[in-house]
Amino acid sequence: MYQEKFVPHDGIYLLNHSVGRPPVSARDQVLDRFFEPWESGDAEIWPIWIQQIEQFRTDLGRLLNAEAADFCPQTNLSSAVTKIIHSLPRQAGKNTIVCTEQDFPSMGFVLTQAQRAGYTVRMIPTALDTQDTDVWRDYLTEDVACVLVTHVYSNTSQQLPVSEISALAREREILSIVDICQAVGVVPIDLKAWQADFVIGSCVKWLCGGPGAGYLWVDPEVVDQCEPVDVGWFSHADPFEFDINNFRYAQGALRFWGGTPSVLPYVLASAGIELICDIGIDRIRQHNRELTSMVLDTLPPRLTITPRDPAKRGGTLVLNPGEAQAAVEEKLKRAQVRFDSRNSGIRMSPHIYNTVEEIEVVLGCILEIV
Ligand SMILES: Cc1ncc(COP(=O)(O)O)c(C=O)c1O
Repeated sequence: MYQEKFVPHDGIYLLNHSVGRPPVSARDQVLDRFFEPWESGDAEIWPIWIQQIEQFRTDLGRLLNAEAADFCPQTNLSSAVTKIIHSLPRQAGKNTIVCTEQDFPSMGFVLTQAQRAGYTVRMIPTALDTQDTDVWRDYLTEDVACVLVTHVYSNTSQQLPVSEISALAREREILSIVDICQAVGVVPIDLKAWQADFVIGSCVKWLCGGPGAGYLWVDPEVVDQCEPVDVGWFSHADPFEFDINNFRYAQGALRFWGGTPSVLPYVLASAGIELICDIGIDRIRQHNRELTSMVLDTLPPRLTITPRDPAKRGGTLVLNPGEAQAAVEEKLKRAQVRFDSRNSGIRMSPHIYNTVEEIEVVLGCILEIV
């Protein structure tokens, strides 16, 4: 019933952890919200474009239970993290940033650059169970200024207990940054309940909103302490003041913006977010759980990396058939299954448009080999 709402794709499309299929409605939405105002109006185009970006922020608020005003558009997560780190107030004796070896590599690259600003980066090794809050308790020591927490890991599909970790960080006066890239659109997220300091995400995966529409949410209680280095006229309190000698930070999250923003990615992304919200995250999650459970409950645990407990996993199935991996991959390819492979194993992620029959085909391929 939902298949026809998303652009068609050949084969069994299970790459939603990488790129979600855009809504069919996106084409008309781009025409209506981007091209039509050019063709029909005599008004200046920028106020209309700014309105589209406002719509994007409003859509994020609806999706994540937050205020539109606390979001700032960003190109991607990496650049958002750079902006955050270099905006933070420095506190004597707090020069360490904590992250984990399982975070998306781009996050590690960016944090490592923070060493140039005098930070030390401490990574929690893969051997430790970062789903266990006690591990974070050991790492969030007095010298830590900031911690990066990935809500769902891209290579294992493990979901971390974000509210517990961010509460622990808050207790110890450590600022938390949460990466929701692999979770948003398939795992329900309530920013009011989390009480993190910063949340970063994009729209290209489960939100089906295309690349280029990243975002940063900042706790309104924290934002006034932040002084981003990477600014531009859209980070100014009054972008239209045009006084080169008088830069003043915008009130709230928009101080993290920068120079002339892109517009089209946000128009496209809004189409994705609006459809995902209309379908309902709970429904998407339920469907995803059913399809992932079909595989996890059938295959022996030695072949599966994704946690079996639904509360501890994201939307992606990560399977490691060991020596049989190449043969399983070949079988899946022949059956037109769209998947990818990482060191951790084969990744497949069922969205609302995937069906029980498709997952039966996947299971059939695997069971023929293992
Ligand atoms: C957990 C996670 N974070 C971040 C990213 C991407 O970061 P960026 O938007 O900077 O490319 C990905 C991409 O796969 C990811 O899985």
